[in-house]
Amino acid sequence: MTPAPPTSTANEWVLRAVPIAREAGAHLREFFAQGVTTEYKGDVDLVTIADRTVEKLIRTRLGEVFPEHGIYGEEGTRERLESGLRWYIDPLDGTTNFAHGLPQFCVSMGLEQRPDGLNAGEDGTLVAGVIYDPMRDELFTAEPGHGAQLNEKKPLHVSRISKLGEALIATGFPSRKRHLSPNIHFYHEFTLRSHGVRRAGSAALDLAYVAAGRLEAFWEFNLNPWDTAAGILLVEEAGGRVTDFAGNQVRLDSHEVLASNGLIHDELVGLFRDMFAGRELSPIPTAREYAAHRAERDAS
Ligand code: IPD
Ligand code: CA
Ligand code: CA
Repeated sequence: MTPAPPTSTANEWVLRAVPIAREAGAHLREFFAQGVTTEYKGDVDLVTIADRTVEKLIRTRLGEVFPEHGIYGEEGTRERLESGLRWYIDPLDGTTNFAHGLPQFCVSMGLEQRPDGLNAGEDGTLVAGVIYDPMRDELFTAEPGHGAQLNEKKPLHVSRISKLGEALIATGFPSRKRHLSPNIHFYHEFTLRSHGVRRAGSAALDLAYVAAGRLEAFWEFNLNPWDTAAGILLVEEAGGRVTDFAGNQVRLDSHEVLASNGLIHDELVGLFRDMFAGRELSPIPTAREYAAHRAERDAS
């Protein structure tokens, strides 16, 4: 592969990243067909040879095509982080699904442009997003001002549903320190107030699906830039909105992400506000209460 000239436009960044994402996805497909052994990196945080091999492949390919770009990858790659252009790479988003033979996972590659003088903790601008689902052969791409596309042809638009009560939404749960996450309360409340909450196990695909209008919204508490960089740009370019739970501009290290079609965003932010303030909680019967109710019903 020939190195891209330093003057590459966002369009060239996407164009040159696409074959890398496809090659990475083809490797994931092969590993998936063979089956892989699983290791633990945290209490239930899994990693496989596929995660590591595919990150290495992406690192090598990006280095060939964009030798001046930085890379920040989930499996430890930290290269040229002083560069004005930085890729956030998740070589396999959905490792738990992958390890269990569930075909819901993807490759995620998002590019941030960081002007000179930006502090380490400040965000630049997202300038390219590529998410590839190798099992469905679905490629989601976005570049600023040019919209988001499926398989490089079909324009993607967020959905037009304007009420949470008619929305299908999604979330995810952390794979580390799960006892510290309050998300089960939000999962419960949003389930009661929508058409349902899906927990499919790949945050990047969840974001791509919001962009594609397949889901009205997605939220999660503990994500990292490699999970979200590409998906945030996809949702925004498809006409949606991405913020933190208070409705403020999302940051790559916000950890909390709320993405929606825009139309139900204020309703979602209002519900987060109420719940964090202790309001609007629908009581759930305890297991003991439910057992008593069941015994009463059986006795009558
Ligand atoms: C995970 C997935 C999952 C989300 C977790 C992520 P990984 O990424 O995106 O859907 O709920 O928070 O860590 O570990 O499979 O790359
Ligand atoms: Ca991930
Ligand atoms: Ca991963």
